[in-house]
Amino acid sequence: MTTSTHDRLASLAPALDAAGQSHLVKWCEAIDGESRDRLLDELVSVDLDLLAGLVRGEGLHEEASGDLEPPETVDASDPAALERRTAGEALLREGKVAAFTVAGGQGTRLGWNGPKGTFPATPVTGRPLFRVFAEQILATEQRFGGGPIAWYVMTSPANDAATQSFFRDNNDFGLAAGQIRFIVQGTMPSVDDAGRILLAAKDRVALNPDGHGGSIRALHESGALAEMRSSGVEQISYFQVDNPLVRILDPLFLGFHAADPRSSGEMSGKMVPKRNSGEKVGVFCRRGGRTGVVEYSDLPADLAESIDGDRRLRFRAGNIAVHAISVAFAERLASGERGFGLPFHRAHKKVPHLDLATGSPVDPTAPNAIKFETFVFDAMPLAERALVMETSRGEEFAPIKNAEGEDSPASSREAQSERAAAWLETRGVKVARHPDGRVAATIEIQPRTALCAADLATQALPDRIDPGSEVVI
Ligand code: UD1
Repeated sequence: MTTSTHDRLASLAPALDAAGQSHLVKWCEAIDGESRDRLLDELVSVDLDLLAGLVRGEGLHEEASGDLEPPETVDASDPAALERRTAGEALLREGKVAAFTVAGGQGTRLGWNGPKGTFPATPVTGRPLFRVFAEQILATEQRFGGGPIAWYVMTSPANDAATQSFFRDNNDFGLAAGQIRFIVQGTMPSVDDAGRILLAAKDRVALNPDGHGGSIRALHESGALAEMRSSGVEQISYFQVDNPLVRILDPLFLGFHAADPRSSGEMSGKMVPKRNSGEKVGVFCRRGGRTGVVEYSDLPADLAESIDGDRRLRFRAGNIAVHAISVAFAERLASGERGFGLPFHRAHKKVPHLDLATGSPVDPTAPNAIKFETFVFDAMPLAERALVMETSRGEEFAPIKNAEGEDSPASSREAQSERAAAWLETRGVKVARHPDGRVAATIEIQPRTALCAADLATQALPDRIDPGSEVVI
């Protein structure tokens, strides 16, 4: 062992021991100097105190309990809607809103070999998700004339290079130079059931992205929040990478969020009614006078299934993971305690790792490890008055999560065609439908043509869409 690596290990060893990670001290002593140096480089950036606390059960989110209530919601039929939309439009016209995509997830369920945003999502042209969002941004700029809209894309260490090269290969989809900024989210080590850090290789810690709650910290640490403040951006329009129907800069939502007395203008969310009690979406709930989201895996079955006086699911406010977050609120969160005020969730997952007793790789067939993540929606209860806006699933929610079945590429393409058909029908276009009512053609309306049905009013449209046809408008 050279003196310098010896010194480095000697200075880190007490902290590793104190954090219950002595197995790594022994391992470092046993491996060659170069590998040891690389491993130490990773270990010094792990917050060992935080991890030890989490392993002891400190800083974890509280389980949902029986004191949950459904939240109040607003929607487009609200008497104030017109005024709110106008307020939201003003924010866009004045360049006060930035778009923010969280795209750091591992996308394991879809089985796509690449960042999820590169997935061909639209029904006719197969436009990748990132292009769909870029085209919405361009169309919104044209509509409101507030100048280039800054677009922040959060990646993770595992997909940052691939994401950035995809944007480069596509000339940033026509957005202006400097308009898109990539920020890389943080990571947390995966641990075994006894809380010991796992290694992905002899010189690498098994790290997982720290959850989309890490986005607030990443915005802060990358300088993005400071940049927003200095460029006059007041609101962040947050959305996930997986939903091609998302309305990424929605004036109505932004207006409700920023200008409605029912909102403190800090953090708002959009909901659609759950399809059924088992749908895998979080639900907005009230607890202790504050609004937040309870993740589907945490909602007790009796609550998930409970019915209200109108025979509807009581907890039906499905979280579509679209938020408006003020820069001021994000700054407040970012200046908070370690973990940025957000509790960690534990997930029991399969994590390939090295067996330190034998030095051989292990590819587990059952969950063997704990991943720690924070969730952005846990910030909602920290807002004084978090507003929830109801919207329509057919208009705004068709995520691509699974390879097949619900929330798959096929179901999303179908939903995109259905929305396009519904928009065309509002303009009198005769769209072929199957006897059961489903659209009998494949239709894609591009964002630059229309961001909502009303935008079609100024477009030349076909009289009819024939069965079996593929149409791009
Ligand atoms: C998520 C929400 C759920 C919501 C549903 C709507 C969580 C925990 N749950 O479920 O309440 O109803 O979406 O579609 O989010 N991501 C990162 N970094 C990470 C982890 C995730 O950027 O470290 C991004 C992913 O790229 C993706 C999004 O967050 O865009 C969602 O993550 P995922 O774990 O797939 O959540 P869902 O189970 O789909």
